Amino acid sequence: MKAIVLHQTGGTENLAIKEIPVPVIKDNEVLVRNHAVAINPVDDFVRSNEGALQGILRPVAGEDLILGWDISGEVTAIGAQVTQFKPGDAVFGLVNFPGHGKAYAEYVAAPASQLALKPSNTSYEAAAAASLAALTAWQSLVTYSHIKKGDKVLIHAAAGGVGHYAVQIAKHFGAYVIGTSSAAKKDYVLQLGADEHIDYNSQAFETLVTDADIVLDSIGAPGHLDRSLAAVKDGGHLISLLVFFSDEQKEKAAARNVHTRLLSVVSSGEDATAIAALLASGELHSDIAQVYAFEEIAKAHEQIATGKTQGKIVVKI
Ligand SMILES: NC(=O)c1ccc[n+]([C@@H]2O[C@H](COP(=O)([O-])OP(=O)(O)OC[C@H]3O[C@@H](n4cnc5c(N)ncnc54)[C@H](OP(=O)(O)O)[C@@H]3O)[C@@H](O)[C@H]2O)c1
Repeated sequence: MKAIVLHQTGGTENLAIKEIPVPVIKDNEVLVRNHAVAINPVDDFVRSNEGALQGILRPVAGEDLILGWDISGEVTAIGAQVTQFKPGDAVFGLVNFPGHGKAYAEYVAAPASQLALKPSNTSYEAAAAASLAALTAWQSLVTYSHIKKGDKVLIHAAAGGVGHYAVQIAKHFGAYVIGTSSAAKKDYVLQLGADEHIDYNSQAFETLVTDADIVLDSIGAPGHLDRSLAAVKDGGHLISLLVFFSDEQKEKAAARNVHTRLLSVVSSGEDATAIAALLASGELHSDIAQVYAFEEIAKAHEQIATGKTQGKIVVKI
């Protein structure tokens, strides 16, 4: 089969298509004929940074390094312990995150517990897209912030991969949603269902929002997490996707009973199944800005590295 292998951490020129054997599945795994893989900022981060490769992908010596975690395709074989899927099922999910997902490949061996059935109204591209980014939004809002009807939710980078799912998921739960983006993406954020928009270039969000039940912060800019802390109400939830909370920030939050968490998304078939139900009902959709060919993987990495992607980008296999 064809896979895209990373020769060594560095630039996109280190990614190359290689012919390698189809993976052998373990008893708890299914073999998926992969049709689409979604690209996330972590793909670019792990490709270019040896510390991130070791910490997130955790390679085993002698193995080909194959990036990517978001897959969607057809099950072609199942391991002895697998009962929830059969050959022919269309599935999607986040494979082995953190760990070695090996998703940039025609066939992927995936633990059955990490996958969900792909809804029939959702393309392979849209399903692959709704993996790492959608699970991050779900785990931030549902698992750790216990979102409920009437909550005020501030979502930073609402036009991006995680943000565009977070807006839709928060609306599904009946929240009042405020999304930030540049002015050019205001209409897009409102179209996703946000009740209010804040242009982060011209407005100081922490002066406009001081009583959010939940703030989802995925921005690395200096001081941004302090500003998000000012936007969350006493007893609320502040989720950071990128920046560690300092001891001082933790103390300030604790004094106000604000729950803080540096979230690191994890593979979960249960969460993917919840996402699948929302895709099936039409309450959630993947907005795909661009689909790239397998050979165009470098371009896909260059696009995600801009930090300006609207919705998701996907590579077709
Ligand atoms: N911890 C975890 O488990 C986890 C999981 C997923 C993602 N992440 C991290 O979270 C971040 C977002 O991920 P993603 O997949 O959503 O990225 P993405 O799709 O690349 O996000 C792009 C969006 O970010 C917006 N943006 C950039 N700077 C902004 C700012 N200062 N304020 C508001 N919006 C801004 C852009 O909108 P404009 O063009 O309008 O600026 C663009 O639409 C990344 O750093 C990623 O590594 C962490």
